[in-house]
Formats: sequence, structure tokens, C-alpha cells
Amino acid sequence: MRPQGTAGASVCGGIGERNGIGSLGGGASVMRLPGAPEVAYRGDSLHLEDLPVSELARRFGTPLYAYSMASMQRALSGYQRALAGRDHLICYAVKANSNLAVLQSFARQGCGFDIVSGGELERVLAAGGDPARVVFSGVGKTRAEMAQALAAGVLCFNVESIGELEALSAVASASSRTAKVSLRVNPDVDAKTHPYISTGLRGNKFGIAHTEALAAFRRAAKLPGIDVAGIDCHIGSQITESSPYVEALDRLLDLVETLEGEGTAIAHLDLGGGLGIAYDTETPPDAEDLIRRLLERIDARGHGRRKVLVEPGRSLVGNAGVLVSEVLYVKPGETKNFCIVDAAMNDLARPAMYGAWMRIVECERGQGEPQVFDVVGPICESGDWQRSPARATTTRAGGPPK
Ligand SMILES: Cc1ncc(COP(=O)(O)O)c(C=O)c1O
Repeated sequence: MRPQGTAGASVCGGIGERNGIGSLGGGASVMRLPGAPEVAYRGDSLHLEDLPVSELARRFGTPLYAYSMASMQRALSGYQRALAGRDHLICYAVKANSNLAVLQSFARQGCGFDIVSGGELERVLAAGGDPARVVFSGVGKTRAEMAQALAAGVLCFNVESIGELEALSAVASASSRTAKVSLRVNPDVDAKTHPYISTGLRGNKFGIAHTEALAAFRRAAKLPGIDVAGIDCHIGSQITESSPYVEALDRLLDLVETLEGEGTAIAHLDLGGGLGIAYDTETPPDAEDLIRRLLERIDARGHGRRKVLVEPGRSLVGNAGVLVSEVLYVKPGETKNFCIVDAAMNDLARPAMYGAWMRIVECERGQGEPQVFDVVGPICESGDWQRSPARATTTRAGGPPK
């Protein structure tokens, strides 16, 4: 049973991650939140669109994830505007948030999906997604997952190794099918992001080294169950600069030119995802500007006729939601104050995994001098904490005001 307070504070963290040293988040001093305008204070009450977040907590209980559809649509529209009028497919990266309502919303808006498992494929299909708009990424596809995706009729497999290519050819041939593939190239480009979410460097497990990509494409062209359709890369996540994208794109286009010179047609270019969002003071490029810049580069190099795919995840959903939790206890300590909430590292893993930073704010702002707390969950690990301390203007525990 939860302790009942008369006017307790709930704590609410923006869903996302920030790399670097945590700074104080939340409190009365916060004027514009990263999720604005859909996540914003009206007076002292935090709102998600028109709904007070404390009201959501009261109705649905905590811990609670809640998302703004309007925010997700607004984020998607930047990509759509940049790509309008050109052969393209926006594949929402399901790993960013695989909630069925979220998937359904993107499916309704004509998106394809980027998946990394058979389970994600099932979720996409359950949400009404079109398998012919699905790309299957990931370094560890099992043969069973390959067969499942082939039977579902996915658009393409983004293949990450020669071993995977050979296994896929065998699985496809066994069912008299041909698998459309794109080879994921590791361009050895520094995305300038946290090492745990950097994926396009030589030392990363992802993709086929760009120095070995030509040999891999030649091998693919000879395999009976494989039909080469495209080339792709994904260099990391929470990328806040355009230049790594341009560098990676140039590497891809160099390869395409060589391959087509040899007679291997490359129908589509998949630029991956990775665009960062603001958690605090970051200033990532605007999606529309970034994609326009990349398309200009593609056109300038004479590849304008090619179909373009993108795989955004975080930039579509990361600032669209909140994790709402209830303050169970406040525990003044000798060296710090603890704020014990009902959400934990199982609900929000990345702060514990690699120090990702979340903004933590009060659902109802109080008056008075704020105090600083370490926000921790109930799990029996000292790592179960949200890296960003919270500044709260109340110290009372309990649920949202009745
Ligand atoms: C292959 C692939 N595509 C797309 C994404 C989405 O990246 P983000 O959520 O940073 O846009 C990821 C994320 O790790 C990925 O691995």
C-alpha cells in the first residue's frame, strides 16, 4: 500500500537521455521544458497537451508513461516536409518506443518501421503496420526470425555481416523465396555521441566495415536467395551535429558509385536514424533542415533519383512523453537528501546503465525554497537512481493532490 499524503508531490521525468554531467533539473525555475509546447506548465500544474499530469496519475496510477500524439505528429512532420515530392520511406525505429498505440499512430500516418526482432515485427503487425514498409535491422537476427520476416513479406533486411547474408540466403532458398537486402555499412565515422550509443565506428559491432563492403556486395550478388536492393548505415543515437551524417553519406555514395560502375544496381539509400533531441542545453539540428541538407548532397552528387529511407526513433518520441511517478518517501541524509519514488531502473534503465540524464520536475510546483534530492527507486541496487538530482519545492510524500 502506498503512503497517503495530503498534498504530496509527484515527480515527472522527461523520457530521454543526456550524456554528460548531470545538472539540476526541475523546480519552479524551469520555464520551458524540452517537450514544450505539448509538455508544459500551466500555472504550477504540469500538463501533457490539455491534461494535467497529476490528473493522469490519479486516473491511471503510477508509475505511468504518458505520451502526446500531437508532439509525435509534429516531430514526424519535419521529416515529411523535407522528403515530400521524392520517392521515400520514413521507417520509425520501433526500439525507441514499441507501445502499440504509438506504433498505430505512426502506421496511420503512412510510416514504415525499422525493427530488430521478430517480437517487434509482431507488434508492428498487431498495430496495423504494413509489412511491405518494414526494414529488418540488427546484428543478431536468428534464422527463425528471418523465416518469420520473409513469410510476413518485409520490404528488406538490413544485413550486418557476411555470415548473416549467407544464413539469410539459405533460409530464403529453403522456402523458395528471395530476400531483398540492403547491406549496412559501418562508415567509421565518429557520431560524437556517448560510446554506448555510437554505432558507426570501426570498433563497434555494427555493420560491415566500409573497406570490406564492396566484397560483401559482390558476395551478395552471387547468393541464390538474395536480391540486393539498397545500402544503409546508422552511425549512432543522440547525434547533435550534421557533419557526421554528411561524412557517412559521402562514404555510402562512394560505394554506390563503384558498385553501379560494376553493374550492381542500388535502388535505395537508407540513412538510418540517430538525430538527437534537447534534454537540457543541447542544440541538435532541426530534422527538416538536416534531411534537406542530406538530400542536397545526394542531388549534388547525381543520386537524386534514388529512393531515400530514414529510420528515426528518438527524435520522434523522445520528448513526447513523461514518466510519472509518485514520491513515496523523502529521506533527509547526512550528505544528501533522498527522494524515494515508485519508478525504478526497470522503468527507466539508461540512467543506471550509462549515466543518461533525465529532467525531473514536479507535477505540481510548490512555493518556497527548493531543496535538492537524489531521486531513487525501490530496487535493491545503489545504481537504482536517476542521475539528475531534482529540485523540489515540497518535501511532502504521497500521491497527487486529491
Ligand atoms: C539500425 C537503427 N536504426 C535506427 C535507430 C534509431 O535511432 P534513433 O532512435 O537515435 O533515431 C537505431 C537505434 O539504435 C538503430 O540501431
